[in-house]
Amino acid sequence: MKHLLSTKGLGRAEAIGLLDIAEDMADVANREVKKLPTLRGKTVVNLFFEDSTRTRISFEAAAKRLSADVINFSAKGSSVSKGESLKDTAQTLAAMGADGVVIRHPASGAPEVLAASGWIDAGIINAGDGTHEHPTQALLDAFTIRRRLHGSASRGKGLDGVRVTIVGDVLHSRVARSNLWLLTTLGAEVTFVAPPTLLPMDMSAWPAAVGFDLDAAIAAKPDVIMMLRIQAERMNAAFFPNSREYSRRWGLDDERFARLAPASIVMHPGPMNRGLEISSAAADSAASTVLEQVANGVSVRMAALYLLMSGDREDS
Ligand code: CP
Repeated sequence: MKHLLSTKGLGRAEAIGLLDIAEDMADVANREVKKLPTLRGKTVVNLFFEDSTRTRISFEAAAKRLSADVINFSAKGSSVSKGESLKDTAQTLAAMGADGVVIRHPASGAPEVLAASGWIDAGIINAGDGTHEHPTQALLDAFTIRRRLHGSASRGKGLDGVRVTIVGDVLHSRVARSNLWLLTTLGAEVTFVAPPTLLPMDMSAWPAAVGFDLDAAIAAKPDVIMMLRIQAERMNAAFFPNSREYSRRWGLDDERFARLAPASIVMHPGPMNRGLEISSAAADSAASTVLEQVANGVSVRMAALYLLMSGDREDS
């Protein structure tokens, strides 16, 4: 694997292989010394043109656990604010010897541009591009579902027949898109539930069912319910009347949460708008995997960095 730009092109065996390596990486987290020498002497640059808490910090933790050197670059406070282009920024990083670049960018397709450009000879990982994809989020979500369902017997398994309902702002969600492709590749059945205004106009090419009624979706007893963040920062119009109305119709409030099947898993990629798309009772419940998703993110990102950057190492 040279780059990780999307989950759409990821095959089933490749995806399961990455999740299995993430299981091995998770074992490292249980050791007293949580470090492997695998990427010693390599440099990972976290290139963030958009805000992030979980993704940036977990990529930093992942790279450090693999003994790589890490450079964190945030567009805020950099020469990007003086008008420096992606090309010049990338060439600056290349001159500093970056072996891997983790990029988050508001423009859909920016990681592909970087990977295809020849401006920098490094493995590129998409850490979220516009409304397009967020592949490591989907991989950590799949890893989390697989672990909840199969525990220590997860290795080698897909998600065949697992029913996943994804609720909310699908229109603006790169998490929804990456999850759709990955979960269906792994054999899961995906249903989207949202107000019509927060769904793409044409979903005919998406291998998913679509509904508008969250209560009906909950009555169908999904194995997993994944609540999406309302992405107010990407909204240039009124997509629903007001927050109270959204929460009343499409929020996982306490009453809806109580109607989920006892074994259902409640997921959210974070950051959460508590009281809008998810109640605190649901978010903080034993059914919730919100913090497991964060912890698993480090293992999955270690696996991604390992696959991209250790190929030419004799000691890998
Ligand atoms: N889930 C996610 O991408 O979170 P951050 O924006 O905090 O990285």
